[in-house]
Amino acid sequence: MSIDVNAIRKDFPLINDEVAYLDNAATTQKPECVINAIADYYRTSNANPMRGLYKLSVAATDAYENARAKVASFINAKDPSEIIFTRNATESINLVAETYAKASLKQGDTILISIAEHHSNLLPWQKICAENGCKLKYIDTDDQGKITIEAFKEAVTPDVKFISITHVSNVLGTKNPVKEFAKIAHDNGAVILVDASQSVPHIKVNVSDIDCDFLVFSGHKIYAPMGIGALYGKKELLESMPPFLRGGEMIDYVTRDSATFTEVPHKFEAGTVNVEGAAGLAATIDYVNAIGMDEIAKREDMLTDIAFRKLSEVPHVKILGSSEASDHHGILTFVIEGVHPHDIAYIMDSDNVCVRAGHHCAQPLMKHLGVMSTTRASISFYNTEDEIERFVRSVAGIRSKMGYAE
Ligand code: ALA
Repeated sequence: MSIDVNAIRKDFPLINDEVAYLDNAATTQKPECVINAIADYYRTSNANPMRGLYKLSVAATDAYENARAKVASFINAKDPSEIIFTRNATESINLVAETYAKASLKQGDTILISIAEHHSNLLPWQKICAENGCKLKYIDTDDQGKITIEAFKEAVTPDVKFISITHVSNVLGTKNPVKEFAKIAHDNGAVILVDASQSVPHIKVNVSDIDCDFLVFSGHKIYAPMGIGALYGKKELLESMPPFLRGGEMIDYVTRDSATFTEVPHKFEAGTVNVEGAAGLAATIDYVNAIGMDEIAKREDMLTDIAFRKLSEVPHVKILGSSEASDHHGILTFVIEGVHPHDIAYIMDSDNVCVRAGHHCAQPLMKHLGVMSTTRASISFYNTEDEIERFVRSVAGIRSKMGYAE
C-alpha cells in the first residue's frame, strides 16, 4: 500500500505546510508515537533498570531489553546480545576504535577508510593510528562520487587489517556496495565496520546479508530521540573485546585491585542506561515497520528524482556527485555560482525552507571535491512534491536576491 502522505504528516508535530523541512540527514522530526513512548516510559515504568528486584525496575529492564530485541530484528542481527546501545553512531565508532582496534591493531597495520567519511568515522581512526603506529589509508571517490568494487579491491592490500566505511554518504548520498566490500575485506583477512547512519533511516539494512563485522547508526536520524544509537557487532568479536567505559552494571566481580566483566552486551553499557531513548527507538521501529521500509525507500526515491531533475534545470547550480538521480538516496548537495552556501541557507530560511550549509563534517571530502562548503537538501518520506517545488523555486531566486542580473 502506498504512503498516505497527508495522514503521515499529521503524525509529526513539527511538520506543517508553512516550513519545508529538508534537513533530514542532520536529524529527522519525531512522530507523536515516539514522543508518547518516551512520556509513557516515565509515566508507567521508570526505575533504574537491571538493578532492582521490584516490579517497576523489572518493567524498566523489560522496556530496555525489548528495544534491544527490536533493533536486532530490524537490522536482522542473529541475537539481541549483538546490539550495544550507545549515544549515537559517533560513540559506536569510538567504542570499536578504543576497544577492538586499540587492542588488536599494531605497527605496520593499515586502517582503510574512504575520503567520503563523516569526521566521526575519521577522527577515531586518526587517533588509533597515532597511538598504535598504524597507517591511515584513504580510498577516493571517482568523479561520480562512487567507489567501485574494483577500486576497493585494489585498495585492500595485505597490510589492511581494518576497514571503516560509510553505507550512504551524508554529503553525496552515494551508496556503497557494502556487501561486496565485506566479502573482499574477509577474503583478505580484514575486519569491516559499516557506518549506516544515512542508510538505516531510508532503506532496509540487513547485517546478516551484508556480513559486516560491525555496523553503527544513530536513533535521531530515524525519527527516534537524540542520545540513543546502536552498535551491531558479531558476537565472537564483541566477546573478544575489552570494555569501553568502566563503572556500574558492567562487571562480574570487583576486588580492591581488579575487576572481571560481565557478558555482552552489558559489558559495553556502563552506568545507568538511556531507557527513554531505547523506548523511543523501539517506537520508531514499530512506526517505520508499519509503513514499510520498502514504501519509505520508494517514496524517497521518487521525491529525490523530482528534486534532482528540477534542480538540475536551475541555471548556475551544480549538484555534486553522481549525474544520476538514483544514486543520491535522498541527498542533494549543491553549489550556486557566486553565492556562499551560508547565504544560500539564510535566504532559503527566509523562504521557509530548511537546508544545511557548511562542510557537513566532511572536510577531506570537501577538499577532494574542490569546494570549501556546500548546501545540502535531504529528504524524508514525509516531504511532499509541493515542498520540493518550493525548495527549487527558492534556489532559483537566490542569485537575483544576491544582486546578480541573471
Ligand atoms: N551528521 C549529520 C549531518 O550530516 C549531522 O548533517
